[in-house]
Amino acid sequence: MIIETTRLRLREMDAGDLPALRAILQDPLVMVAYEGAFDDDGVDEWLQRQRDRYLADGFGLWAVESRDTGRVIGQCGLTRQSGSGEEAIEVGYLFCHDVWGKGYATEAAAGCVQLAFDTIDALPGDAVHAQIRDTNIASMNVAIRLGMTVRGRFTKRYRGITMPHLDFAVSRSAWEVRKREVGNPSESMR
Ligand SMILES: CC(C)(COP(=O)(O)OP(=O)(O)OC[C@H]1O[C@@H](n2cnc3c(N)ncnc32)[C@H](O)[C@@H]1OP(=O)(O)O)[C@@H](O)C(=O)NCCC(=O)NCCS
Repeated sequence: MIIETTRLRLREMDAGDLPALRAILQDPLVMVAYEGAFDDDGVDEWLQRQRDRYLADGFGLWAVESRDTGRVIGQCGLTRQSGSGEEAIEVGYLFCHDVWGKGYATEAAAGCVQLAFDTIDALPGDAVHAQIRDTNIASMNVAIRLGMTVRGRFTKRYRGITMPHLDFAVSRSAWEVRKREVGNPSESMR
């Protein structure tokens, strides 16, 4: 187990999670920002990439389980990114579409932001980022709920397509101020 929030448990993924991963990564609605659903090989590669990250960095995208039901309802976690031209630690999130609108992404992501500030040595820029395609309003809303602001713009080539991105981030000091003012979303959302 990596972290627990009020309603969620985050843990490393393994081959036993492939059915749950397929339900997320092969759903065209979830995968709009990624230019469409993955095939089975794409899902296998995604899982392997996270497992490589666990070994190399000690973090990656993790499975998000409901503490009430044990169901894997999404993925959320921390990854190293350099697409903006600078090294950054990013919080990422993807959830099954039947659970959207319940605050789970914000809750899980807030737990990951806190974990990054607590445990990652030499956190680049002493900030946590969310690098979001400029069409992905739902994801931007999660970043804004985390107290993030836009720091820059860059383009990313992915699956043969040029995708404009916004680089959102929250600094450690802004995160502490936000927690004092509005609380930590990972602890107050049941
Ligand atoms: C991005 C994504 C995870 C956001 O999911 P989401 O369900 O909108 O986000 P949350 O779980 O934080 O939900 C917040 C919403 O739930 C509502 N909500 C319900 N209960 C809530 C609670 N207890 N606390 C906070 N918000 C709550 C909020 O009002 C908010 O609704 P609003 O957007 O109408 O204001 C989801 O759209 C997704 O999986 N997209 C596909 C993958 C993807 O693009 N990932 C991002 C790549 S950069």
